[in-house]
Amino acid sequence: MKILVTAGPTRESIDPVRYITNRSSGKMGYALAEALVRAGHQVVLVSGPVTLSAPEGLDSLIRVETAAQMAESVKTVFPSCGGAVMCAAVADYRPAEPASEKIHKSEGDLILRLERTEDILLSLGRMKSPDQVLVGFAAETEDLRQRALGKMERKNLDWIIANRVGLPDRGFQSDDNAATAYARTGRVEEFPLMPKKLLAQKLMDLIFPGV
Ligand code: CTP
Repeated sequence: MKILVTAGPTRESIDPVRYITNRSSGKMGYALAEALVRAGHQVVLVSGPVTLSAPEGLDSLIRVETAAQMAESVKTVFPSCGGAVMCAAVADYRPAEPASEKIHKSEGDLILRLERTEDILLSLGRMKSPDQVLVGFAAETEDLRQRALGKMERKNLDWIIANRVGLPDRGFQSDDNAATAYARTGRVEEFPLMPKKLLAQKLMDLIFPGV
């Protein structure tokens, strides 16, 4: 099956030398892409800026920087895919008026106005055909189950992978993670703390069994 994976953070310009980003390392998304390649799938990886090297055997790697670029690539590739796994930590807001020249300091405070970016996963949920498998992620500090199920419903997903953030031993930057996978069918699978590579393999075996 041809499967789209997104990974990493996005970067949103404030001016030519500064940007807003987040702590995503891309490790989980790259591990998911690698697990799918190993299982014999054709994988298109759309990646924000990360320091990781590309998994071997990808169908293609599309490097993007901003949420808008990620949205454009993803919406172009998705119609030809059987599934999509949206692991990227896409910025929800970007500077509304990025400066074309470097902003120089002055005496007072600087107020940046931020505007919403496109929710790429929501757009895919609206585009998706009944035979496409759409997988989202929910990184939450509280009310994990309720928030994850709400996102699955709102974004028309087949699966949502929920994990806790804000704990020192897992998630962002770490090599380990724990997760709970919720399916639209009501199925729930718990995965305890383990290396992200192993977790990725278990998740992809669950959601995309066989080739
Ligand atoms: N996502 C996306 N495009 C965005 C924001 C998020 O595709 N602009 C995707 C992420 O890749 C992830 C899922 O949506 O798969 C969950 O993102 P999150 O930001 O946690 O969900 P929200 O619905 O935006 O909820 P909130 O910010 O209120 O937690």
